[in-house]
Amino acid sequence: MLPKSPLARMFIYGAIAVAILLPITLSIDWFPEQGSASAHKIDTLYDVLLIASVPIFVLVMTVAIYSVIRFRARPDDMRDGPPIHGNARLEVAWVTIPFLLVTGLAIYAWITLNDIETKKKGEMLVHVYGRQFEWSYAYQGPHRRLIQSNELYLPVDKPVKFLIRTHDVIHSFWVPDFRLKSDAVPGITTNWRTTPTRLGIHDVVCAELCGPGHSLMRGTVHVVTDRTFTAWLAKLGGAATSTAAAPGGAATPAAGKQVFAANGCASCHTLAAAGASGKVGPDLDRVVQDAAKYAKGRPAADYIRQSIVSPNAFVVPGFPRGTMPQTFGQQLSPQQIDALVKFLIASGGGGGGKKK
Ligand code: CUA
Repeated sequence: MLPKSPLARMFIYGAIAVAILLPITLSIDWFPEQGSASAHKIDTLYDVLLIASVPIFVLVMTVAIYSVIRFRARPDDMRDGPPIHGNARLEVAWVTIPFLLVTGLAIYAWITLNDIETKKKGEMLVHVYGRQFEWSYAYQGPHRRLIQSNELYLPVDKPVKFLIRTHDVIHSFWVPDFRLKSDAVPGITTNWRTTPTRLGIHDVVCAELCGPGHSLMRGTVHVVTDRTFTAWLAKLGGAATSTAAAPGGAATPAAGKQVFAANGCASCHTLAAAGASGKVGPDLDRVVQDAAKYAKGRPAADYIRQSIVSPNAFVVPGFPRGTMPQTFGQQLSPQQIDALVKFLIASGGGGGGKKK
């Protein structure tokens, strides 16, 4: 039945393997649901890469496996086979074919990326900030004022350009449903463009190992209708000017609670009064209770302030140095720090503000 020539046999086995494997790989659901205008381009690119690589993989494996079985040495057969050296035609072929294939795929990928990254008409700028271990955002408000936000809302079907920065180490801003990710690199602003097309909530993930809280550095993006977005932004813009959490606001415990919430403290710390249950840093309910002990004779507020602005001055036993970002002293205004200290003391360490 099968032809005698090894080459013809390998070809038949290879063709059968491709016919089985290719439909299987293409039918696997590799990606989450498409959430942006460019998602299908990325998915198609991936499918093309699969179509190109499955036959190459099969070719290499068929030749290797077939040769191992068919040309293996029998017992007592000590012959070494004929010496072979150099086959110019074969060498030219196996350099040229992969070269053309890889070059073609690279050009295709470059065209796709270039297409996704072209400037779109009426695109909205959204600033993205990475910090150990949370994402925050800022929108362009009226009079070139930036409106800060802890949440990411985007209007559906509107092109967005993200400007991505980091306050500390390298992070990577990734929205799997949108199919693109970009590193946030200290000292530079990276960017990527997208047009969200699917209403709903999508994951935001940090895709660069950035410290002990890396796996917790997650968030969501809400893709909403244009009206909802405008209302949300207006409310946020109004809130940012009226609340005491603003840099120049009054230093009250209530304002401190907002500072706590707005700066991602909850992603690393547990604090009942803020409904926070982070595990990366010390449990603040306990730290506040122990503040008098840690303060070593100073007022407890001084110790708490020091822990915010220069966290390495005293590290709670059991936690590595340098876990807490060193940058809050510059990021927060003096009023915000005062408010935060007041809030922490008022929290009393343990929810209801009652000490035992
Ligand atoms: Cu930020 Cu991982």
